[in-house]
Amino acid sequence: GGADRRSLILGMDWPELKACVAHCTDCKLAKTRTQTVFGVGDESADWLFVGEGPGAEEDARGEPFVGQAGRLLDNMLAAIKLKRGENVYIANVVKCRPPGNRNPEAEEMERCEPYLERQIELIRPRLIVALGRVAAQSLLKTNATIANLRCKVHRYRGTPLIVTYHPAYLLRNLPDKAKAWEDLVFAVETMKRLTA
Ligand code: URA
Repeated sequence: GGADRRSLILGMDWPELKACVAHCTDCKLAKTRTQTVFGVGDESADWLFVGEGPGAEEDARGEPFVGQAGRLLDNMLAAIKLKRGENVYIANVVKCRPPGNRNPEAEEMERCEPYLERQIELIRPRLIVALGRVAAQSLLKTNATIANLRCKVHRYRGTPLIVTYHPAYLLRNLPDKAKAWEDLVFAVETMKRLTA
């Protein structure tokens, strides 16, 4: 059952977890994906950025945030002097691309949840940054909006978590970039407090 599956996953080391995700067929996204997108970066990073799920380019390349939204994410990281892979890990709530980039369904997120949970246990980041509504709501088990969740320090199973807009959303809503900038400043301040 679900509880047995979860405790199995939560007992895995990195190689076991990567192999398990790579071969996963536990939801219907397995039928339409090209490949799974596990996550990338420093496996002992202080910073963990979590998106929603792979898009077309991520599905083709097997790496998160490598398309247009990914370029914006890299620029957001650069704005706070961070670099992909250097003290940063990037992952998604679901490891397989939802067809046509639809939002992942509740059941798909539920099946995928132990994978991200185990990634977080293994990385032990100081701060999680949830990118966009789907990641924020899934990690925090809430229906609240980004507008209501941003600028606050939440917790995911004990780990401090903050929320900001998804880079793909920002590309369609340029005026909200100013708020995302405030969120990045808040993220840096929060990290400073956590490491002080
Ligand atoms: N959007 C996401 O949420 N994740 C990716 O990896 C790419 C685009």
